[in-house]
Amino acid sequence: MNNFIYQNCTKIIFGKGTETCVGQETIKYGNKVLLLYGGGSIKKTGLYDRVMQSLKDSGIEVTELAGVKPNPRLSLVKEGIDLCRKKNINFILAVGGGSVIDTAKAIGVGVPYNGDVWDFYMGTAGPQETIPVGVVLTIPAAGSEASNSSVITNEDGWLKFGLTSEVIRPVFAIMNPELTYTLPDYQTVCGAADIMAHLFERYFTKTKNVDLTDRLIEATLKTVILNVPKALANPADYNARAEIMWASTIAHNNLLDTGRIGDWASHKIEHELSAIYDIAHGAGLAIVFPAWMKYCYKEDVARFAQLAKRVWNVDDNMFDMEEMALKGIYALENYFSSIGLPVRLKQAGIDESRLEEMADKCSFSGTREIGNFKKLSRQDILNIYKLAL
Ligand code: NZQ
Ligand code: ZN
Repeated sequence: MNNFIYQNCTKIIFGKGTETCVGQETIKYGNKVLLLYGGGSIKKTGLYDRVMQSLKDSGIEVTELAGVKPNPRLSLVKEGIDLCRKKNINFILAVGGGSVIDTAKAIGVGVPYNGDVWDFYMGTAGPQETIPVGVVLTIPAAGSEASNSSVITNEDGWLKFGLTSEVIRPVFAIMNPELTYTLPDYQTVCGAADIMAHLFERYFTKTKNVDLTDRLIEATLKTVILNVPKALANPADYNARAEIMWASTIAHNNLLDTGRIGDWASHKIEHELSAIYDIAHGAGLAIVFPAWMKYCYKEDVARFAQLAKRVWNVDDNMFDMEEMALKGIYALENYFSSIGLPVRLKQAGIDESRLEEMADKCSFSGTREIGNFKKLSRQDILNIYKLAL
């Protein structure tokens, strides 16, 4: 196990009806709030009214910015920065999923910065401060509610880049599983694929002697695998929704990569897909991850066999290690298919025409390798896209 420092400053407020305390939590940080949300699901579900009432009861002045799109865009971030400066906003409340939260984080670091906020995503500057961000989460998926990252798409070149910094973790995340009852099935399963992908990215490590985190990851994976079909069968199954929601945070708040180094190539490979084709991030991961696994399992067959045994119950008395590893990968693919996710590019309407372009972008024209479990060159990335066709 490697040395590590673990600190997560996000206060989690979890459970039924918790959104009604958003005013009380917010007023601890600011009284001029930017309320940020997406395409309107929060209005349809009545959440908007409850949040507004709670903010009003705490005497908070609200400025709204709506219209965050999935795979959130830089142009709206810049609009938000201008609005915050003009209105002297001192707190940003994100009500929604990863796209809304990531936009809030970008606006938060952009306001006090003199340069172009995209610098942070290019890695040419690091944020030193932010307007505090709070969250009311409506979809368990990205884990952005307690993560140190934000992913934004620059429409100029369709570049989807991430910023990682401790500065941007939200100060609180209100998580009421009841708010997820209204999710379309497709969003539920895309969220599940993202949660599972965050677990796999951490699981596939070259770090030795990480048994505790291995087993915590396996337990979180099993929890998601068992509860997603329950939520699909009964969207208002509180217990299933609660398990999935807590798993989304646990999978990506850095607890499960303590003492180990994760891989993260599949996320980079997927970001090219959602940047160009605007598909849901989780759907892209359901396509990319099985292909990445087939391409990389020989790096550490025993680790893949361990996952197959502990998570997919593949019997180690009946199969050799390589067979087990492959059975685990096929079990994952079958599971994704069974819950309604695409597992091939063609199922998402993507053909071979832009694979070279994506491999180029992902490898910075062949100048950078990605991934830690196995270092992937431009050619490797292209091979994985082809395997996913
Ligand atoms: O926009 P509205 O109308 O609200 O509808 C949203 C949106 O269309 C809908 N939705 C959300 N909650 C709902 C609901 N519909 C009905 N009832 C509800 N309760 O769901 C759609 C998807 O929302 P989005 O926020 O895009 O989903 P998600 O949370 O999956 O976020 C995806 C983004 O997060 C990034 C992804 O790349 C992608 O851009 N990621 C962010 C990470 C981070 N910051 O740590 C890590 C991840 O790996 C990921 O890259
Ligand atoms: Zn993800």
